[in-house]
Amino acid sequence: MESEQNKDFYKDAQVLLESVLQELLLRINLLRRYQVLLGERDPVEHCKGRIKSAESMKEKLVRKGLPVTLESALNKVYDAVGIRIVCQFVDDVYKMVEVLKRQEDMTIIKEKDYIQNPKPSGYRSYHLIVRLPVHLLDCTRELYAEIQLRTIAMDCWAALEHELRYKHTISNQELLQKELKRCSDEMASTDLTMQTIRQMINQDGQDSRHKDR
Ligand code: GTP
Ligand code: MG
Repeated sequence: MESEQNKDFYKDAQVLLESVLQELLLRINLLRRYQVLLGERDPVEHCKGRIKSAESMKEKLVRKGLPVTLESALNKVYDAVGIRIVCQFVDDVYKMVEVLKRQEDMTIIKEKDYIQNPKPSGYRSYHLIVRLPVHLLDCTRELYAEIQLRTIAMDCWAALEHELRYKHTISNQELLQKELKRCSDEMASTDLTMQTIRQMINQDGQDSRHKDR
């Protein structure tokens, strides 16, 4: 049912969006496998992607005061294709950002560091808006995608907050928002502690290898 609605709205562009989605997932998968091949830790816990449903795309265009057309869905908002990369540690997020920025055929249109600058809600993530070429028979089209990078803790918070946001029956909104923000700050602090623990364990491993020599 939903995919019928998507086809009605995205028309021929549906196949282009699917191609960009697969291409990005493939590139990220290659980077992960290559890290492991080099004997390094896979910095990505999991990665997934989606094409924005026609329904939520139309809702977004209305919300942004844009014409509800395929043209604006493809060129005025940038998240018809969305990728989410969930990393283990905060430094893994920044590492992946740098690696992605190095891809020459992918233009970075916008980047938002909601880790350094969390949203008032407490939302933390690193967002990249990218533009990718899709080569067709007689032309090349450029398509946009939004890549969200975050840690497991940030992903956990965002999922729960998203769930709660739609529960409009809650009476004390102000207290709820304050508590959610507090959870986000606590999780961010735990994220940094976990990263420090990992660094201590790594250091320990290196020291004992030196001793063994
Ligand atoms: P949207 O119109 O919501 O897409 O916002 P935007 O185009 O101004 O971009 P922004 O960077 O604010 O947010 C893009 C996406 O980040 C959203 O679609 C959500 O997936 C996610 N996001 C942003 N803020 C929050 C938040 O407070 N809570 C949660 N759970 N997700 C958020
Ligand atoms: Mg969005």
